[in-house]
Amino acid sequence: VADERGTSSGHDALDVLVEGLRRLEYRGYDSAGVAVLSNGSVGFRKKAGKLLNLEQELGERPLPPSTTGIGHTRWATHGGPSDTNAHPHVVDGGRLAVIHNGIIENFAEIKRELVEKGHEFLSETDTEVAATLLADTYNDLGDQDLTTAMQVACRRLEGAFTLLAVHVDHPGRVVAARRNSPLVLGLGEGENFLGSDVSGFIDYTRSAVELGQDQVVTITADDYEITDFHGNPAQGKPFEVLWDAAAAEKGGFPSFMEKEINEQPAAVEQTLMGRTDPDGNLVLDELKIDESVLRAVDKIVVVACGTAAYAGQVARYAIEHWCRIPTEVELAHEFRYRDPIVNERTLVVALSQSGETMDTLMAVRHAQEQGAKVVAICNTNGSTIPREADAALYTHAGPEIAVASTKAFLAQITAAYLLGLYLAQLRGNKYKDEIAGILAELEAMPAKIQQVIDAQAAVKDLAQSMKDAASVLFLGRHVGYPVALEGALKLKELAYIHAEGFAAGELKHGPIALIEEGQPVFVIVPSPRGRDSLHAKVVSNIQEIRARGAVTIVIAEEGDEAVADYANHIFRVPQSPVLLQPLLTTVPLQIFACELATAKGYDVDQPRNLAKSVTVE
Ligand code: F6R
Repeated sequence: VADERGTSSGHDALDVLVEGLRRLEYRGYDSAGVAVLSNGSVGFRKKAGKLLNLEQELGERPLPPSTTGIGHTRWATHGGPSDTNAHPHVVDGGRLAVIHNGIIENFAEIKRELVEKGHEFLSETDTEVAATLLADTYNDLGDQDLTTAMQVACRRLEGAFTLLAVHVDHPGRVVAARRNSPLVLGLGEGENFLGSDVSGFIDYTRSAVELGQDQVVTITADDYEITDFHGNPAQGKPFEVLWDAAAAEKGGFPSFMEKEINEQPAAVEQTLMGRTDPDGNLVLDELKIDESVLRAVDKIVVVACGTAAYAGQVARYAIEHWCRIPTEVELAHEFRYRDPIVNERTLVVALSQSGETMDTLMAVRHAQEQGAKVVAICNTNGSTIPREADAALYTHAGPEIAVASTKAFLAQITAAYLLGLYLAQLRGNKYKDEIAGILAELEAMPAKIQQVIDAQAAVKDLAQSMKDAASVLFLGRHVGYPVALEGALKLKELAYIHAEGFAAGELKHGPIALIEEGQPVFVIVPSPRGRDSLHAKVVSNIQEIRARGAVTIVIAEEGDEAVADYANHIFRVPQSPVLLQPLLTTVPLQIFACELATAKGYDVDQPRNLAKSVTVE
């Protein structure tokens, strides 16, 4: 929002919005839109695709000059990328425009109520539900106060949201709210701004206020007011932006990779969000495959490449254990060309962050030709693999910009676990309370991941001291084995160091010959509270390599004292069930690779020879 001075000094709302969206485009880029208040009406334009499409549209169909507006770049969660699903959502006969980030968990229930009251919906988004709820509340209250309506509406919403609204009754005003999703206020001279992060307005001011949880803020050109969802006055957290524009896009982190490693608690949390009904049953609305088909499945084949394939390997242990369905994991390019045995009773699960990996897409098509049903677990809504699959289950990690995958890996494991639990529920392999127990453990993981991230300084110190290592080995058993493979892959692709992951049990069948004095070896240790003698076996493996001169770097649970005597370095992770441990034990390995590559002066966001989406076979 700017006053007339703002406009005359060149800050037309639309220019500010488009420039801000350009800076924020990394947060999501499947569609973009703007709405401005001018002459008592809402003018808006929105387009699927990159921001450029919106700019072309604005060139062809310009909007009038304005001092008040909102804009959004989208990363689709509910409803694929399309012009209609793009934000802003303009409702109430064109009087109210709303944009939204996050996931509204109870949108289906609210939508039902609003439909009963006679409201109609144009899009498939949860945002349109929030916008309609806000309009309905505003009109019901009848006191013409958009801020109160926002407070009341937000009390109904569950999940994660940042909402911004403009209304024709209130020129020169933007009302916003936040819960579990970021919102920052920028304070200018005769103009104020709101953004998901400061990069949206860094060209205009460096004076900012971070909004707290469950707060509503109303801004005008010269003023702002913060309350809680009940209208009580509240305070934000003022700060000066010290970063330049480029650093601001990375949220102050030196690289997108570090930012994404740090976003992992949120990536897992958002992937879990909105998956249970009020009775505690797991619901995967997107899983539109007939239940009778899912009940008849006698084999699961997970197809994927690279990091996504390691997520699949982790998931296999859980799916077989919970569902008792034989589960194979295969690299998509190998699966495609070996004449695999697949039929209508096979469920193929395709894991892909980008949803565009050609090898995985070809495997999906091949499986469908043999009659198999395909569920895609993807991070990119509307991409090719989920579009062609019979059903899609989205990870909600948000856009992953760094080429090497981090937060998508944890989100893929989480989503695959949800699929496994859902199949166990549907096929009656597990009692409801057992599933609820595992879900509760999963829900506790984001806070535990945060603890591992908070302890990263020691991992970074070790990485700095190892920057001249010529080769690093990684060992693990059970779910620790794919974690070892992922740790080695991260080090190869980021730091260009020779790295190998092995199943710890395989050591004596060959790889132990590699161990010599000073060879660094990471060992991922399973929980001592886990099944059988898994833990004891790994402890023996550590002793074997230590005896041959290896430098052992051990990732073990808090309280696991048995490993301490054989570890040169030890990194602790919080206690968790064995099957969930990869969500924790992977994190130090990512931090290690990222820091070591940085110490060597490499660009961790764009490692040599690699591309984010591999769209060729
Ligand atoms: C490794 C990495 C790649 C991808 C693989 C599959 O850090 O990023 O190994 O995991 O190319 O990509 P998606 O998941 O997009 O199919």
